[in-house]
Amino acid sequence: MRDLFEKIYKDKGPLGKWASQAEGYFVFPKLEGQISNRMKFQGKDVITWSINDYLGLANHPEVRKVDAEASQDYGSAYPMGARMMSGHTNLHEQLQKELAEFVSKEAAYVLNFGYQGIMSTIDALVSKDDIIVYDVDAHACIIDGVRLHMGKRFTYKHNDVESLEKNLERATKMAEQTGGGILVISEGVFGMRGEQGRLKEIVALKDKFNFRLLVDDAHGFGTLGATGAGAGEEQGVQDDIDVYFATFAKSMASTGAFIAADQEIIDYLKYNLRSQMFAKSLQMQLVKGALKRLDMIRTMPELKDNLWRIVNALQSGLKERGFNIGTTQSCVTPVYLKGSIPEAMALVKDLRENHGIFCSIVVYPVIPKGLILLRMIPTAMHTLKDVEETLQAFSSIRERLNSGVYKRLSAHVSAAMGE
Ligand SMILES: Cc1ncc(COP(=O)(O)O)c(C=O)c1O
Repeated sequence: MRDLFEKIYKDKGPLGKWASQAEGYFVFPKLEGQISNRMKFQGKDVITWSINDYLGLANHPEVRKVDAEASQDYGSAYPMGARMMSGHTNLHEQLQKELAEFVSKEAAYVLNFGYQGIMSTIDALVSKDDIIVYDVDAHACIIDGVRLHMGKRFTYKHNDVESLEKNLERATKMAEQTGGGILVISEGVFGMRGEQGRLKEIVALKDKFNFRLLVDDAHGFGTLGATGAGAGEEQGVQDDIDVYFATFAKSMASTGAFIAADQEIIDYLKYNLRSQMFAKSLQMQLVKGALKRLDMIRTMPELKDNLWRIVNALQSGLKERGFNIGTTQSCVTPVYLKGSIPEAMALVKDLRENHGIFCSIVVYPVIPKGLILLRMIPTAMHTLKDVEETLQAFSSIRERLNSGVYKRLSAHVSAAMGE
């Protein structure tokens, strides 16, 4: 028998092995100052392209005022306990009612965290006879939710409706044997590459197959659709989404989340979501803050218009300069470059130190080896000047990448890591 920690001493995992080179800079960086388009990183001013504050609400004076007043009135504890036991309030109910109305569903239920909330939603929706069919590139919270399932599950190729159809055929055969049903799970917007889930085509399959659809619309809520109600609204299929999920961690610039569905389904879920039944309710400060943010999303369409003005300028500017931004159909703006992890590190350092641009960097194992993904999140706070400066910086780093500058600068890291 071996000591449980032995494997940890030997192997830090695919990302953890980079800790000594990366921590504090590439991972766990500390962005300082007020949340905005320009913040400070290690004392330097940077244009920030890595914060999911799509609508610029995080630091909006009206939002800050309500947050501060709610904190003054309630502190950060109230209400104590789980919703079911002692943590329920009128304002939780009001928020649910308003969220349901906003996303055109009969009812909604507020969750203390999105990650745990959607895991429990998946867990509560299926029993062991049921079959889950989900996109292979689904967010970790969906994968973890599926892990709780005691029955069969199939993945379909990323956003590939033909593959979904094949898997639905298999799932249907299996469900006929087990006597169970089928849950299909997609995202409204895939947060890494920015494609919208092909919801329209997925719901069209309901004519042929019997399944229910759960959509995680973390990045679509507030950013897509005529009113900002998300990817379902954008694609005209909101009614065919059986269970709609969104977090408050992005457009709402807060903490918490919600699910929305028919009344009877929400009534069932609120008695069966383990991560909510056995965990503290969302505190009032956040509930009041969410009501304010939702009101602003509803009544200030200029926030979304500003966001899209920046998205369009950034994405078209990148394309005009010949950058590969993949197949994004949302605000999420990926830029794909070719290079090793050490090269990616040198490139990002150049971007931050010499160009004052802060964006997230994604490498293997999240994306295939040899690719570097610079992921940018435009917001309503950004300006066209931010976009212009960023485009110029990107042209410069691409030139240095192609001429081998970063390879030379990172040779010692490559050698040390055996890359
Ligand atoms: C697609 C997606 N689903 C769920 C979550 C989890 O939400 P939360 O941060 O509220 O736990 C996230 C991250 O915020 C996400 O990107």
